[in-house]
Amino acid sequence: MSGVRHTADIQRVGIVGGGQMGAGIAEVCARAGLDTVVCEVDAVAARAARNRVAGSLERAVERGKLTRDAADTALARLVFTGTLDDLADRQLVVEAVVENPDAKTEVFAALDKIVADPEAVLATNTSSLPVMLLGRATGRADRVVGLHFFQPVPVLPLVEVVTSLHTSAATAERVADFAVRTLGKRVIRSQDRAGFVVNALLIPYLLAAVRMAESGFATAADIDTGMELGCAHPMGPLRLADLIGLDTVAAIAESLYEEFREPLYAPPPLLQRMVQAGLLGRKSGRGFHRYDGS
Ligand code: CAA
Repeated sequence: MSGVRHTADIQRVGIVGGGQMGAGIAEVCARAGLDTVVCEVDAVAARAARNRVAGSLERAVERGKLTRDAADTALARLVFTGTLDDLADRQLVVEAVVENPDAKTEVFAALDKIVADPEAVLATNTSSLPVMLLGRATGRADRVVGLHFFQPVPVLPLVEVVTSLHTSAATAERVADFAVRTLGKRVIRSQDRAGFVVNALLIPYLLAAVRMAESGFATAADIDTGMELGCAHPMGPLRLADLIGLDTVAAIAESLYEEFREPLYAPPPLLQRMVQAGLLGRKSGRGFHRYDGS
């Protein structure tokens, strides 16, 4: 096992997946001055990912969080590609594709062949799937780790560092140090259990809100207002589920239920039906609430 290296050595980062999470992770990496390559499935999706990051940088400028020059420099540091081979020289790759075990396993098996540096770290932004499973898709499970960000990534400071039974202490230390010192995030550590720390607590709460709306106990608007004004949450549970994406909430719930077999983790029928109907929340324009123009 290699010793702990100083993380200023991580300068070349790759992100697989340019959706809400991938684009956010790419943005914070570029804003931290890193050479960042974002890989999507094809050139069209790569352009959409670029637009996502550009839109978020624009919002940061409008809100006075970033100067125009810094936003332009960050965008210029980003390369968007439709070819996984373009990640060959990366020192850290963060996988942020759809929350599906087959899709993620395929990415890790491919990265194992493509990423040349034997010291490179392959990280997953999974919310709930076993990091172990992804490590075992590679020949370097000791350098596979969970690096779980929170949405919106440029705004929320937390990163969960998740170690599988195979992850080396040096790898965990290296990415934790990277998250804190290079990206300016706060780190908590979790063992490799579905949901890690935050989602194991958050998802049952969101599902309880869905059940409350489903039963007619209260309206979606009142449930959200209740938690915003009664508990000072920045957004109520159904608005938050819409932000995360109802497909993602359902996928995390499935993983939690699969792991723990507790009814509180079982996705309620209304959630499943909304996902099947394509009502995925903010990203599709409608979930528990409507997002006209988004
Ligand atoms: N870059 C930097 N800062 C930005 C920004 C950007 N692109 N966009 C917004 N901000 C800043 C704003 O300047 C503002 O900062 P100040 O408070 O210092 O003024 C702050 O972010 C809030 O932004 P807005 O005023 O535009 O919006 P808002 O007040 O309506 O807040 C929100 C929006 C940040 C999403 C807030 O509602 C919130 O924090 N909601 C809860 C989100 C949450 O719980 N996320 C976790 C989801 S779970 C998850 O992600 C894990 C998983 O695996 C599912």
